[in-house]
Amino acid sequence: MTRLEAIHPHTIAHRGLSAHFPENTLTAVRGAYRCGCPWVELDVQLLGDGTPVIWHDPGVRRCSSRRGKLFTFDMTTAKTLDVGAWFHPRFAGERMATLEEMLDLINELGLGLNLELKVNRGRDPRTLTETSLPMALDKLPTERLVVSSFNRQALHTARQLEPDPHRLNLGLLYDKLPKEWREIASHLNAYSFHLDWRRLKEKQAREIKATGYRLFCYTANDPIAFAPLWQWGVDAVISDDPDLFAHYLPGKAA
Ligand code: G3P
Ligand code: MG
Repeated sequence: MTRLEAIHPHTIAHRGLSAHFPENTLTAVRGAYRCGCPWVELDVQLLGDGTPVIWHDPGVRRCSSRRGKLFTFDMTTAKTLDVGAWFHPRFAGERMATLEEMLDLINELGLGLNLELKVNRGRDPRTLTETSLPMALDKLPTERLVVSSFNRQALHTARQLEPDPHRLNLGLLYDKLPKEWREIASHLNAYSFHLDWRRLKEKQAREIKATGYRLFCYTANDPIAFAPLWQWGVDAVISDDPDLFAHYLPGKAA
């Protein structure tokens, strides 16, 4: 991994190499590091007691040993969940990571982080951002952190907390790019767009790049189908298994 790749990656391991490890866990991020992934994407939400944790779903059923909404857990009860065995018995005993634990690990490993502020239905974007962002800004250097969200309020709160675009890279996440994307990005002083690769059009990609934003696409696991998007100027692919793309990146022979 070159220094340049660390700052401007071509691949980002979705939920921390989730093809091979239980998603959004410390073990997944250690695995991503061992596999040579320079960046990881992780989701952050709040527990009921306000602790930011690395978790994707509104509930715990899919990825743990129990059921229930995430916000009904506090730190003590959340740490009793087994968040590894659902993926494979060899990961039994894995515990839910707090944001702080995860940031310490990422810092120690020297990885880049795309932190997604995950605002599930009914949750408060401001509190999530006010709790998570200062911690992330404190622990990671600017060039190794991109904070993204589908939730505009979360991004606006983030920009209010850190108005300097040179100190905070903000990414707009969309399933489908809205018509007024230029105004939204300009108002937010955004750094990047994070778009669903299956819905992205070549014209949109070229316009986004011509306007000066970085362009990340999620969640792709088919490097051959994805290949044309590199020609459109896409900067990075967010993949469950970035290794699949090893021979299909810009500048590599297919
Ligand atoms: O940040 C890209 C991607 O993670 C967005 O979708 O649902 O996997 O968080 P999701
Ligand atoms: Mg995500």
